[in-house]
Amino acid sequence: MAIFNFRAAGEITFGVGAIQQAGAIVKKWGGKRVLLVVDPGFAKAGPLKRIKDVLEQEKLSYVVFDAVEPEPRVEVADQSGQLAKKERCDFVLGVGGGSAMDTAKAAAILATNEGRARDYQGLNKVPRPGLPKGMVPTTAGTGSEVTFTAVFINADEKKKAGINSPYLYPEISILDPELTLGLPPAVTAFTGMDALTHAIESYTSKAASPLSAMFSQEAIGLIGKSLRQAVHQGSDLNARSNMLLGSLLAGIGLANAGVTAAHSLAYPLGGVYRVPHGVANALLLPAVMEFNVFSCPEKFAQIAAWMGENVQGLSMPEAAVLAVESVQRLAKDLEVPQRLSDLGIPQPAIPGMAEEAMKVARPLENNPRPVSLEDAIGIYERVF
Ligand SMILES: [Fe+2]
Repeated sequence: MAIFNFRAAGEITFGVGAIQQAGAIVKKWGGKRVLLVVDPGFAKAGPLKRIKDVLEQEKLSYVVFDAVEPEPRVEVADQSGQLAKKERCDFVLGVGGGSAMDTAKAAAILATNEGRARDYQGLNKVPRPGLPKGMVPTTAGTGSEVTFTAVFINADEKKKAGINSPYLYPEISILDPELTLGLPPAVTAFTGMDALTHAIESYTSKAASPLSAMFSQEAIGLIGKSLRQAVHQGSDLNARSNMLLGSLLAGIGLANAGVTAAHSLAYPLGGVYRVPHGVANALLLPAVMEFNVFSCPEKFAQIAAWMGENVQGLSMPEAAVLAVESVQRLAKDLEVPQRLSDLGIPQPAIPGMAEEAMKVARPLENNPRPVSLEDAIGIYERVF
């Protein structure tokens, strides 16, 4: 067995009502003056008041940064870091979807380092640890609450890239399924498909370990069982709980095993066309599974069973193909976009996007089947 290494967030608190403990947990980790990083939509909604209340109960002061945008630009990260410095914050709490949590992670390291966000895009480029930080996800999707990555668009260079550093691992993660009850069906669908992509890609990644695989497996089961219900019956707290737990476990799988080709191919859609990350992954996951299926059919056969498919009596290759069909059917039932053309992406853009995708090298290296430029073009053509 190969040597493996495993990490997750410092402290994870999960459960209905868990948000009530946020103030006490922040205090325990040394926070006195908190930079609260939130989505603008969330800033106007009721749950922000709850979070302010729990901080006030512990006599913590806070400053709100609510200029987070979907698929945030590096400039937004810089602004959040400047505010943390100016206000002498000693803790950062990110509340929201992946964009808010990624911005919060960036604020924490930009508060203690001299450079700008664009200087740190890449792997291990952050010189010093940041402020301690906590994440409160309000979508069941990105897993950003347990990963060491924060992704930003650099419009000058027309690219979307992650700041990847061990200093980005959140010290605390607080997950309360009640906070996800109000998510609209479409957002539930595409963030949920992002989580499923993390689970399946981390399981089939060449960098998977026995420990990461446990998390990926459990995540596939929870998401496979509950995503339809969470989308079509959003008030079902049990389905919401399963999805939030599933996305957490998928995030732990992803942080330790990486993702594969769907994520590489998804990046150019976000960087150039501002397609939300989950939409891009939902569209690409079935096609990448189809491309990969016979590189590790035993893994895909297991995925089919964990997704709830009946694999009794099937040969291993038949069960493996059923995993692809299962995810295709799920994407269709959730009514997520199935075609690049539905997203307004012109066919002549495909070769350029494929070249950009090839530069997102790490997930491609993890892919169970080698991916050439021609393969990348072929996958985009299949989903055009
Ligand atoms: Fe993702």
